[in-house]
Amino acid sequence: MEENPGTGTGRPGRGADIGTKPGGEREAVARIIANQRSLIVRLYARIRFLILRQTFLQEIGQYLPRQGRVLDLGCGFGLFSLYFALDAPERRMVGVDLNRDRIEAANECAKKLGVGNVDYTAQNALDWQGHGQFDAIFMLDLIHHLPKEEVEPFLLRVAELLAAGGTLLLKDVSDRPRYKMWFTLLLDRLMVGAEPIHYWPPAELCALVERLGFTVKRHTINDFLPYPHMLYVCTRAGQSRRDQEPDPRERRSPCPRSSTSKRFTATNSPAG
Ligand SMILES: C[S@@+](CC[C@H](N)C(=O)[O-])C[C@H]1O[C@@H](n2cnc3c(N)ncnc32)[C@H](O)[C@@H]1O
Repeated sequence: MEENPGTGTGRPGRGADIGTKPGGEREAVARIIANQRSLIVRLYARIRFLILRQTFLQEIGQYLPRQGRVLDLGCGFGLFSLYFALDAPERRMVGVDLNRDRIEAANECAKKLGVGNVDYTAQNALDWQGHGQFDAIFMLDLIHHLPKEEVEPFLLRVAELLAAGGTLLLKDVSDRPRYKMWFTLLLDRLMVGAEPIHYWPPAELCALVERLGFTVKRHTINDFLPYPHMLYVCTRAGQSRRDQEPDPRERRSPCPRSSTSKRFTATNSPAG
């Protein structure tokens, strides 16, 4: 596992239609929020986009192909798959979530927005088979909701869904620092009650993903909110198309230990 210096040098707008228009990202986020089905969901969406805000969207977006199939597992209300569908109309987004109401809301929102390049399925991601392969797969805050013992076999199946050279992006919550973990746990408990939650120590999750044949780079994403965000960027060793391009970040600083994403700071204004 390598520590990634983060996307302080991310490639914002790389492949982002909405990112190239002034205010395009904000506008897309505002449209997604405005088209939610109820006040409560609009509020939730606003908070979600406050937590995973503009720079974060660029962080994830830089790893997604502009064309091809992209899978969002545990997509919830589809906020981020809708965003990335709006971002690149040639991208085919597929979203899967256990929660039927959320999937119904995601479909409604896609319809209202006139977004045709998303497909949503209500199913347990642990059982979902999928059809064909994906050029990129992401999971935003799903892993810590899955039973710990299920994660390895699940990720093994997910790996099989990933096309050669594809990227698997895991955004999850670290178990350190503790005060940030407790803050996140409190909010998660408000959302899911007594359901099991397991925040993986980053080294443990990296080791697991590496066992599945991936090269993993991870970095924290610091924000004014005390969330211990961790982004794991997983590629099949030696296969990634991106691996063939020189990455200026790696030339500058291969694997610093305590790296963070500098662009994701308290001074960044919220996206929504
Ligand atoms: C913290 S929410 C994140 C939602 C979305 N990824 C986002 O970032 O807004 C976690 C989501 O994972 C979903 N989830 C939990 N366990 C799941 C499972 N086994 N299969 C599919 N979805 C699941 C929940 O229904 C919920 O929508």
